[in-house]
Amino acid sequence: MKVGNIDLGEKLFVAPMADVSDHPFRIIAKEFGAGLTFTQMVSARGVIENDFGTLRRLVFSRNEQPVGVQILGNNPVILKNAVKELVKYSPDLIDLNCGCPVSKVTKHDMGASLLDDPKLIGKLVKSMVEGANGVPISIKIRLGKDKKNINVLDNAKAAEDNGASLIIVHARTKIDRYSENPDWEWLKKVKDNISIPVIGNGSVFEPEDIVKMKIDTGCDSVMVARGALGNPFLFERYNSIVEKGFDPGEPDIIKVRDTAIRHIKLLVRDFGENNALDRIKKNVVWYFRKYNGINNFLDNIFSFKDSASVINFIYEHSEKIINNYFPEEDLINVHKKFENKVLFWLAEEKEFELINKSFE
Ligand SMILES: Cc1cc2nc3c(=O)[nH]c(=O)nc-3n(C[C@H](O)[C@H](O)[C@H](O)COP(=O)(O)O)c2cc1C
Repeated sequence: MKVGNIDLGEKLFVAPMADVSDHPFRIIAKEFGAGLTFTQMVSARGVIENDFGTLRRLVFSRNEQPVGVQILGNNPVILKNAVKELVKYSPDLIDLNCGCPVSKVTKHDMGASLLDDPKLIGKLVKSMVEGANGVPISIKIRLGKDKKNINVLDNAKAAEDNGASLIIVHARTKIDRYSENPDWEWLKKVKDNISIPVIGNGSVFEPEDIVKMKIDTGCDSVMVARGALGNPFLFERYNSIVEKGFDPGEPDIIKVRDTAIRHIKLLVRDFGENNALDRIKKNVVWYFRKYNGINNFLDNIFSFKDSASVINFIYEHSEKIINNYFPEEDLINVHKKFENKVLFWLAEEKEFELINKSFE
């Protein structure tokens, strides 16, 4: 699969994720064989106003490319000017977010609100393409407003007709929660109806899910979001299936431990000790969620005040896992909770608060 002049082969896309897709997350995904990563969504207006917070969220280094940048907006002129500005950083893809259902975004008629208006989506894409100087433009969409108003084919066609180079389809509607299964059949319908590449997205957690999505839908590539949290190993495993014909399976705990520690060190380097701490805790829970002892991990991790204590704890915890110290846990249930809510250790309202905060 090609993005502009770059041939990704069979390699996968890593989704934009607010407060997650930072440089350390992206670089680790790439080290384990991801194809194209994304910076998290930022407002197009923030880009043209040269807002420092916006720039910090979209900055990437050359050694992690290919990288896509995702913007939010609903005004063709602002989007065109934002794209002109972004092109100076030479991203490999610029994506328009047409899928974010969070009220902080939709109340400004951005993100998933755009889904109701294929004509406008077409106009916005056209305008972005005009400013892009050849950098590929994409849109990331959901199936529609709700199950009664699925219009993904209209939106996909509007993007294609106005010069988009590819489209990314999250196979849920705007109102669906993660607890509802995505409808991959629509990915196939989109693929059958347009000729630009289609990237499928929605609930792939294991290498075999990726294989299945590709076979069932014919999509050109797959974008992974939650499946990559604490799990860059997914990319390596999938690549092994493609290249060698087999899945090497879950990594051993030493590899998980060492990758989590590397992730921590990169976060401290990029954000500084104090600002990194919340990101560190969130990420390391994800690394250890597949192992017995996760409840003990959750009981302890949030009390640490610095990264060195977290690293010490991770060494001790991993040693206990190796020695089968922890009793069997209902890990299927832990995974279910994680599928429904990535911050699965938080109460619903707290998660809502945090998610909204990240779009302020
Ligand atoms: C923590 C988090 C943050 C997200 N932030 C963004 C974002 O900035 N832009 C976007 O288009 N989608 C965002 N998403 C949605 C994902 O990119 C993806 O479409 C969705 O999670 C479905 O994929 P999955 O089933 O593989 O998780 C986010 C998802 C999560 C879990």
